Amino acid sequence: MTPKTPNRMLRVNEAGHLVVGGCDVVELAEKHGTPLYLYDEAEIRRRCRDYLSEFGTRFPQVEIAYASKAALTMGIARLMDQEGMALDVASAGELYTALQANFPAERIKMHGNYKSDLELRMALEAKVGRVVCDSLTELEQLDEAARKMGTVAEILIRVRPGIDTHTHELIQTGQVDSKFGVGIFGGEAHEAIELALKCEGLHLRGLHCHIGSQLLETDAFERTVDQMVEFLALVRDDLGFECEDLDIGGGLGIRYTEKDEPPTVADLAEAICPRLLRALKNHDLSVPRLILEPGRSIVGEAGVTLYTIGVIKDIPSLRTYVSVDGGLSDNPRPALYDAVYEAVVANRVEEHAACEWVRVAGKHCETDTLIDDTCIGHCEPGDLLAVFATGAYNYAMASNYNRFTRPAVVLCCDGQDELLVERESLADLISHDRIPKHLAAKEAAEDCKQQG
Ligand code: LLP
Repeated sequence: MTPKTPNRMLRVNEAGHLVVGGCDVVELAEKHGTPLYLYDEAEIRRRCRDYLSEFGTRFPQVEIAYASKAALTMGIARLMDQEGMALDVASAGELYTALQANFPAERIKMHGNYKSDLELRMALEAKVGRVVCDSLTELEQLDEAARKMGTVAEILIRVRPGIDTHTHELIQTGQVDSKFGVGIFGGEAHEAIELALKCEGLHLRGLHCHIGSQLLETDAFERTVDQMVEFLALVRDDLGFECEDLDIGGGLGIRYTEKDEPPTVADLAEAICPRLLRALKNHDLSVPRLILEPGRSIVGEAGVTLYTIGVIKDIPSLRTYVSVDGGLSDNPRPALYDAVYEAVVANRVEEHAACEWVRVAGKHCETDTLIDDTCIGHCEPGDLLAVFATGAYNYAMASNYNRFTRPAVVLCCDGQDELLVERESLADLISHDRIPKHLAAKEAAEDCKQQG
């Protein structure tokens, strides 16, 4: 059964329960507890294949690097490897996770606007495919580290193309006023390429840019392509630099609510590939490998968060508050980016036609609204609430605020469910706590005094 609710097409079984990856979510909640992050494995795989085929059929050489910041566990790294994806990592932790999952190092790209010495060393030791250098300082640092290790770092330079995008201010990254990359305007990018070409410890393979996230139109990507090709022509003429890799980042938006109409991957490929090929030809430039780094559009809509509804409070002639057993700690996005989500009462989806407007609140000690004003089916304490499109930057940004334990993450496929991440326990919460010696000593001294 696939009823059309006011929100979206849903998979629902005869019992009226929401189904994710063939699994009945009521059973999943009983087995794993709530809050619970769920992923539909087939959906993730479908999206990887979509990128590989839509871009692969429109451009001679393509690499799709999953931006692991959106959601990374060792299991997800394995899945990406199986799908033939490359991987973008942006910290020692993401790199470590990928390597521990045996993700092939040559398909890893190491990002970061401030990579520590440890991170640069880890990247060199692992022989990652590309280090994406973000500043002149980093070029010098990496050159020195590579020479000391008797190796040569394969690099891209991240440039700031000066493109404004229509998205939340916090997730714009390619505009002139941004901490990322070296600016095309002002000549810093030119200088960085000149420097990299001279460094014996560096092998400059190409350029990178990433203009922003949750982009719902293709026009900014088109402007980026134009800008990058013009710059490539300039540095080819000035410095003789031939670009082998052109990485234009990620950023494709997803459908959080029925109002969002993101371009499809095919729309994106159609906007980028013919335009890029044409522009390269016009400037008589050779055709580089095209790299994309999607994160959100791979895992976002494949994820659902399941909560148990607790207290329901009706404030007469104002609104109804429905509290769930999670909130800010498992999904900080509404608080950070005014993100809007949709939800259904997951244990009786068929009743959704009779919907009630409510505010979904978390259970943290502050106003952690999860969904401000949403229409869900009639609910009672003990019902399950499923919030959609939570696969990107939710588990990844989860915290232990209020000493909440982070939820388990479950991968669902063909009716089978398996853990990607175990639920944290209360013992995990204190496992890194230490009681400073002088505090323990003071108590011991007071005990002595009392006894003596
Ligand atoms: N490549 C680079 C260099 C990036 O910085 C990012 C995201 C991506 C790729 C992937 O972008 P995506 O395809 O996922 O849009 N926490 C924010 C999103 C921050 C994105 C940071 N960079 C959120 O929850 O919306």
